Amino acid sequence: MGNIKYQKIIQLYEKMASYDIIGNIAIIKPDGKTKKQKLEEAKKLLKIPSVKTVLEKSERVKGRLRKIQTTFILGEKNKTALYKENNCLFKVDVDGCYFSPRLSNDRKEIALKIKKKDKVLAMFAGIGAYPIVIWKLAKPQLITTIEISKECNKYFKENLKLNKIPEGKIKIIQGDVKKQIPKIKEKFDVIVMTRPNLKFTFLKQALLVSKKGTKIFYHLFSHEKNLENELEKLKKESGLKRKIKIRGVKKAGDIAPYKYRYRIEMKVLN
Ligand SMILES: C[S@@+](CC[C@H](N)C(=O)[O-])C[C@H]1O[C@@H](n2cnc3c(N)ncnc32)[C@H](O)[C@@H]1O
Repeated sequence: MGNIKYQKIIQLYEKMASYDIIGNIAIIKPDGKTKKQKLEEAKKLLKIPSVKTVLEKSERVKGRLRKIQTTFILGEKNKTALYKENNCLFKVDVDGCYFSPRLSNDRKEIALKIKKKDKVLAMFAGIGAYPIVIWKLAKPQLITTIEISKECNKYFKENLKLNKIPEGKIKIIQGDVKKQIPKIKEKFDVIVMTRPNLKFTFLKQALLVSKKGTKIFYHLFSHEKNLENELEKLKKESGLKRKIKIRGVKKAGDIAPYKYRYRIEMKVLN
């Protein structure tokens, strides 16, 4: 119980702060700080009992793999984080794979909307955080995942073991969503699209494996004032034959001033 309270306090500080804490590793953002300021911040962060290493984010999240690059500042020289959330344990190389502790609530909220009978597809699975939280909290029939990065899938497999996921409950497909989806014959009840922040929407791919009633949880990146436009574009993109209804829009995190990651909940109508 004490641990959960402590995690919540850390998350509250992180929301305001210019750093992220992924278990044993704190990552500070440069934000124009001097070397001395960064060292001061690192010393303070090392006072948090779980934090053993402080790194500096030296590059923005970039490319389709959404990787960051960090440089070492203080503490133990290590870039492999072990992080706990939603009763799950995740191992991740912070430079090798995208991972954001700020999405823990999004993971939980999606998981709580999934039913035991559901067959779930998690596209862009990274190190497995969404599928593993979904399995732990919802125990759906089966979760199929697609992730292009071999490095992420290596950690994903380790995380399946760390979280004692029964054999065959979470299936990992290595590859590009655009190439892998046409090979899948089944239709899913729920599709989770934690997309990279790039132009391609992948909605057409999702509709190929949807049926009437499929729920899609879709990450959309938009400036606050463009949101309505972006939603209209998304509805049009489903095409003439397939219809989608937008059932919910929620901010899942901020990416820049007035720019957010929105979680869009859609239902496929036909
Ligand atoms: C924003 S990250 C989300 C990762 C994960 N869902 C999470 O939140 O921890 C996007 C992920 O999509 C993967 N990716 C990017 N383009 C892809 C594609 N065309 N097919 C499959 N995976 C892709 C990247 O490697 C990255 O791990």
